[in-house]
Amino acid sequence: MSERPLHEGKLDRAQTLSNVRSEATYEAISVNPVTPVIGVEVEGVDMTSDVPDAQIEELNQALANHNVLFFRDQPELTAEQQIAFAKRFGGLHIHPAAPQGEKYPELFVIHTHGESFVNNGADWHTDVSCDEEPPLGTMLQIHRTPPSGGDTLFANMYAAYDALSEKMKTFLSERTAIHDSERAFRGRYADKGVDDTGAVFPRNEHPVVRTHPVSGRQALYVNETFTSRIRGMAEDESNALLEFLFRHVSRPEFQVRFNWQPNSIAFWDNRCTQHLAMWDYWPNERYGHRVTVKGDRPFYKAN
Ligand code: SIN
Repeated sequence: MSERPLHEGKLDRAQTLSNVRSEATYEAISVNPVTPVIGVEVEGVDMTSDVPDAQIEELNQALANHNVLFFRDQPELTAEQQIAFAKRFGGLHIHPAAPQGEKYPELFVIHTHGESFVNNGADWHTDVSCDEEPPLGTMLQIHRTPPSGGDTLFANMYAAYDALSEKMKTFLSERTAIHDSERAFRGRYADKGVDDTGAVFPRNEHPVVRTHPVSGRQALYVNETFTSRIRGMAEDESNALLEFLFRHVSRPEFQVRFNWQPNSIAFWDNRCTQHLAMWDYWPNERYGHRVTVKGDRPFYKAN
C-alpha cells in the first residue's frame, strides 16, 4: 500500500495537539475519557452522601488533569446537597453581578426561556476571570433540558498553550492582561430583575499564561468575554494579538461538546478551561443550578 502524503500544515497541527493524558490512575473513582484531549465521564460518586475524602482527593486530581468532569448518574440534587458537595473543594464564590437568592446566595440559577433577553455564558470565557481571585471551578447541574440543543462546549487551555510556537510561548509568558467585567455584566441580568445603576464591576490584571497550581502545567488565560487589553502594548497591537488568541483558543480540536440530559452535571476547572453555552433552543426552556468554588490569584512560574 502506498503512503498517503500528508499536507504539511495538517501534520503540524496534529503534531502540536497535546492529547497525551496524564499518567494518573484512579482507585476511588472510575474515569472514562470523552475525547483524547479534554473531558472525562466520572462514575462511582454519590453526591447525595458524605463523599469519602479519597474520592474528593482523586476528583481534585482528575479536574486538574482532564479539565472537565461529567457525571451522568446523579439524581436531581437539592440546593443543600449541591452546596455541601461543592464545599468539599473549597469555600464558595458569590457571583459579583448575577441575582442571588436570599437563602442560598452561593447558588446561581441558570434559567433561559422564551422571555429571556440573554443566555448566560454565550461567548467563550472562564468564569469571572475579572475577579482578583477568580473561581477555581464551577459545578453545574441542569435539571430541565430543552427538547434538543443547549449543549455546552469546553476547551482545553493547556492544549491551546502547548500548540503555540516556542517563540510565542516565551513572548506571552512575559505578558499580563486586563480582565474587565463592565462590558460583560452591565445590563446582563436586567431580565432577571437586577438594576445595576451605579454598580462598579470587577477589573483585574492577570498573567496571559497561567501555571496550574495542582498540575504545574501552563495554560492560556485570556478569554473574549473579559480580557480587554494586553498590558504594555499599543491598543491596535493588543487588539490584533487578542484577536489571534481568541481564534486560537476556540479551535475545535481543543474542545468537547457536552449534550445535557436531565440531571447531568459538569464540573469544570476554570484555571485551565474555557466554556461556551449554546443558545440554539429559544424559545424553549433550560434550567439548572450552578455553584462555584473560590480560587487563588493566578500566577506564572516558568518550568
Ligand atoms: C456558564 O457559563 O456558567 C453557563 C454554562 C451553561 O449554562 O452551560
